Amino acid sequence: MRQAGRYMPEYRALRERYGFLEMVKTPELAAEVTLQPLRVLDVDAAIIYADIMPPLEGMGLRLSYEQGEGPVIHNPLRALADIEALEQPDPRETVGYTLDAIRLVKRELAGRAPLIGFSGAPFTLASYAIEGGASREYRRTKRLMYSEPAAWHLLMSKLAQLVSDYALAQVAAGADAIQLFDSWAGALAPGDYAEYVLPYVQHCIAATKGRRTTNDEGRRMNNTVVSSSVLRPSSLAVEDSTPVIYFGTGLSGMLSLLRQTGADVLGVDWRIQIDDAWAQIGPGAAIQGNLDPHVLFAPWPEIERRAADILSRVAGRPGHIFNLGHGILTETPVENVARLAEFVHAYDAVTDDKTTR
Ligand code: CP3
Repeated sequence: MRQAGRYMPEYRALRERYGFLEMVKTPELAAEVTLQPLRVLDVDAAIIYADIMPPLEGMGLRLSYEQGEGPVIHNPLRALADIEALEQPDPRETVGYTLDAIRLVKRELAGRAPLIGFSGAPFTLASYAIEGGASREYRRTKRLMYSEPAAWHLLMSKLAQLVSDYALAQVAAGADAIQLFDSWAGALAPGDYAEYVLPYVQHCIAATKGRRTTNDEGRRMNNTVVSSSVLRPSSLAVEDSTPVIYFGTGLSGMLSLLRQTGADVLGVDWRIQIDDAWAQIGPGAAIQGNLDPHVLFAPWPEIERRAADILSRVAGRPGHIFNLGHGILTETPVENVARLAEFVHAYDAVTDDKTTR
């Protein structure tokens, strides 16, 4: 999950000199921070240093990051007119800095590790745009969803288009896989997720993979008419199919629904045991997760015990990406992260050895 961040002294040193958005918007700095964890940790992939929020600026939303609060939108969406007024930007023009950072990282990596590009998923972006920042109950978001469905669907269509275009632009710039962060979708009842969110996630994932969905023609999908005037097949569509990881938290009550997203990999947090998750998800999708990030503050034997528990439950099934169940926390001891990556690789080597013998 989040690899960079304030837990690395190398990162903190740069952050003392530059603002967060300034770093994200300076391709050389973003590329440098993307590569920092790979120099210190034995991890298997890099994730581009960016954030889910800046693409919203191109729609006309004003963004800043406040100390201890995370992202803040200064002109949140409160009515249909606000949603109608949103621009439908070309991410190549509005977030070209992240695409440039991807190109720089790819050149530097020279094939040594894959690079993961990412985007917020429509629901999580909508929740920030409506609430104006972080939220615990998503009161305004749910109110709009339940009482003004036309406004909701227009917003989700516009966001799905943005996410699809942005994901494809990252793939064109060199991203090897795309992770969609739907961090807060777990706030929803499964029925509401199916009706108000899933069709848009399906659209984003199909578009990222260069596939068309029925809603590209504006037909009915899951009882939802997705606005055909907003959602169009992207001109950037690619032939080869990019792996897509769909990540959320608190989604363990709707894992079978998540299979319908079309994602190659589903992220699972720590609120479910990974073998239970696997039983619900079934074969055909890989799983990423599911260590509680707080475990990394424990003494090493505890970390090892919990990591080994996950690995033994996975029992060598193909398609497990060992990861934290959510972003790495500030002040996490770097040495614990490094030791965990080594432990997982050593464990894999032992089991691989057994299966080949
Ligand atoms: O770690 C990396 O470099 C990967 C890049 C990355 C960031 N944000 C950098 C970042 C990724 C993949 C994200 C995704 C993201 N951003 C999500 C989805 C993942 C999740 O954790 O659920 C969300 C919800 C956001 C929105 C966001 N951005 C929040 C809530 C915050 C504040 C976090 C905090 O702890 O205060 C940010 C800021 C942010 N994004 C930082 C980083 C490294 C911290 C910036 C800093 O102060 O240095």
